[in-house]
Amino acid sequence: MTDTSTATGTQQAGDTTRRTGPVGVGVIGAGVISDQYLSNLTVFPDVEVRFIADIDEPRAAAQAEKWGVAGSGSVEQLLADDDIEIVVNLTIPAAHVEVALQALAAGKHVWGEKPYALDRESAAQLRDAAAAADRTVSVAPDTFLGAGLQTALRTIRDGRIGTPLNGLTLFQSPGPESWHPSPEFLFAYGAGPLFDIGPYYITTLVQVFGPVAKVTATASTSRATRTIGSGPKAGTEFPVEVPTNHSALIQFESGASAQSVFSFESDRGRTGFVEIAGEQGTVVFPDPNEFDGDTELYSHGAEEPETIPAVGSTYSRGTGVVDLARALRAGEENRVPGALAFHVLDVMVSIAEAAERGETVLVESTVAPSPTLPEGWDPAASTLA
Ligand SMILES: NC(=O)c1ccc[n+]([C@@H]2O[C@H](COP(=O)([O-])OP(=O)(O)OC[C@H]3O[C@@H](n4cnc5c(N)ncnc54)[C@H](O)[C@@H]3O)[C@@H](O)[C@H]2O)c1
Repeated sequence: MTDTSTATGTQQAGDTTRRTGPVGVGVIGAGVISDQYLSNLTVFPDVEVRFIADIDEPRAAAQAEKWGVAGSGSVEQLLADDDIEIVVNLTIPAAHVEVALQALAAGKHVWGEKPYALDRESAAQLRDAAAAADRTVSVAPDTFLGAGLQTALRTIRDGRIGTPLNGLTLFQSPGPESWHPSPEFLFAYGAGPLFDIGPYYITTLVQVFGPVAKVTATASTSRATRTIGSGPKAGTEFPVEVPTNHSALIQFESGASAQSVFSFESDRGRTGFVEIAGEQGTVVFPDPNEFDGDTELYSHGAEEPETIPAVGSTYSRGTGVVDLARALRAGEENRVPGALAFHVLDVMVSIAEAAERGETVLVESTVAPSPTLPEGWDPAASTLA
């Protein structure tokens, strides 16, 4: 593909280390979560959102109009724009791999919503295609780049509880069908609480403890159908294809362990619970699905917890896209590497398999935790002008 950009001469799309200036972005998928991405990506000076695509083209056009984005239309039109270097893939999980492969074939880097893929085979296909194309495929969550989780991670990495030994995470809700206007995909193969919500908790645990070595789990499905609770399809019944409750026991390569519940089967909501016990104390994290929130430190022997205010950026989704854009310009690895999303997917698939088979499953992939951000790191700073 020939690059016709005035800014970049005749380089190939994606040869971003040789380009200068803000990085061109195209968004594929103009659904519910696109507002949050666009609210941030349209104010970060290091990226320029040039085009929004969706199979529902009027939906893409409405989002482009709302957020002041110049172009909208089909995926093919988006991929033909050589000034788009990063495709932000906000489609439904079943389309993630197909859309990412299309973007790679057009020479683009990809930032995608979670999960990376629906199964290990298509995840490996995507990982190998990215390597062959010399492009990055990174996947949410980027919540751990936010002030909340960075402060909690810093508290542990500064040695405030000694060596972290074990973790407990809980996500329990009645399920998202009450508020999401098209919740069918959240109960389809590749979603459910494990694949939809698990990435936030498992990514956080990997940042604390390092890579997972093996898992065991149980699973259940409370109801065969659910009913849409909001929007034009309210009252419509749809099938539940996946377990709506997973309880997992996770063992890390370090020898540390964690217990995690991922549930759409609890009338009583209890979400965002991440507690890490160390040799000399316990850290209570803020919600790993958020970019902000205080950390609580229970030091050994202290009667009351110390509240540690979050320090860092509180911008939300899209933060990882800026980190990727800057890394591409610098020729460095970004802080949410594809290998992290691949490992987290591998862990989730392993939890599902462990529950199905009633046995422990060894996790073969691995990844190192990402380096902590400097306290003043700011996705809204202009660094590529
Ligand atoms: N809704 C949330 O609160 C939320 C939060 C975090 C992450 N996410 C993730 O974001 C992704 C999208 O979720 P959503 O809630 O915005 O879904 P949604 O159903 O509201 O929107 C998805 C959009 O993608 C489009 N699409 C589907 N397949 C496509 C394809 N092949 N090519 C082009 N467009 C295609 C659909 O037409 C739709 O407009 C999911 O992976 C989800 O897990 C959602």
